[in-house]
Amino acid sequence: MNSTRKVVGIVGSYRKNGITDSVVTEILSTVASQECKTEKIYLLDKNIAFCTNCRACLQVQGAKRGKCILEDDMEEILQKIESAYCIVLGAPVNFGNINALTRKFLERCVGYAYWPWGKGRPVIRNKKAAKKAILVSASAAPAWAGRTFSGGLGGLKKLAQILGAKPVGVLWVGLVNKKDMQLSDKTVQKARALGRKLATFRCSSATKRTIN
Ligand SMILES: Cc1cc2nc3c(=O)[nH]c(=O)nc-3n(C[C@H](O)[C@H](O)[C@H](O)COP(=O)(O)O)c2cc1C
Repeated sequence: MNSTRKVVGIVGSYRKNGITDSVVTEILSTVASQECKTEKIYLLDKNIAFCTNCRACLQVQGAKRGKCILEDDMEEILQKIESAYCIVLGAPVNFGNINALTRKFLERCVGYAYWPWGKGRPVIRNKKAAKKAILVSASAAPAWAGRTFSGGLGGLKKLAQILGAKPVGVLWVGLVNKKDMQLSDKTVQKARALGRKLATFRCSSATKRTIN
């Protein structure tokens, strides 16, 4: 098995075995069955501090991710993502956007941008989206409404963009209103199809990034 053909799944949901997690699991299991290495990371299990807006990671120009001064699990998570050729990003919709844990993680990815003091806005260092991403979400609202009217899809796209990944598929589970709800057969089939799609992409050396 070629270790560079690795797919990393990020689960931002608070519920292990919830809908978001179950979809990510289904996608990763399919990828694994196609001779690709997979790893799932639960943000819930990780020590992720809030960004303090010190902006140290934003000051050095160049393509390499700026180094964060905080010592927690972010470096390990980002290195795993950087070693993958595809990623699966899963976050539920809470109060109209991706949930707080995923948002906290997104904010800590800011070192992929360059934003020296005095400049108006951050600029993503490496605009080439060399990885592929599948975006996964779940909402109480019907899928079409959640996708269209919440900020969830925009939040996941922003996360994919800053991680250098181009979204190639979205799986959104709507009407999550029952306790202990399971994935429908249709959702499982869609997840498996997306897993097979990810497994077909070839690894590019351009997917590898390093740190300042
Ligand atoms: C605090 C909170 C806020 C929520 N806000 C929304 C919302 O704004 N729109 C919506 O459609 N669903 C909302 N939901 C429902 C979740 O999106 C839904 O339960 C989803 O399946 C949770 O994902 P999980 O199964 O991965 O835990 C909310 C749930 C919680 C707990």
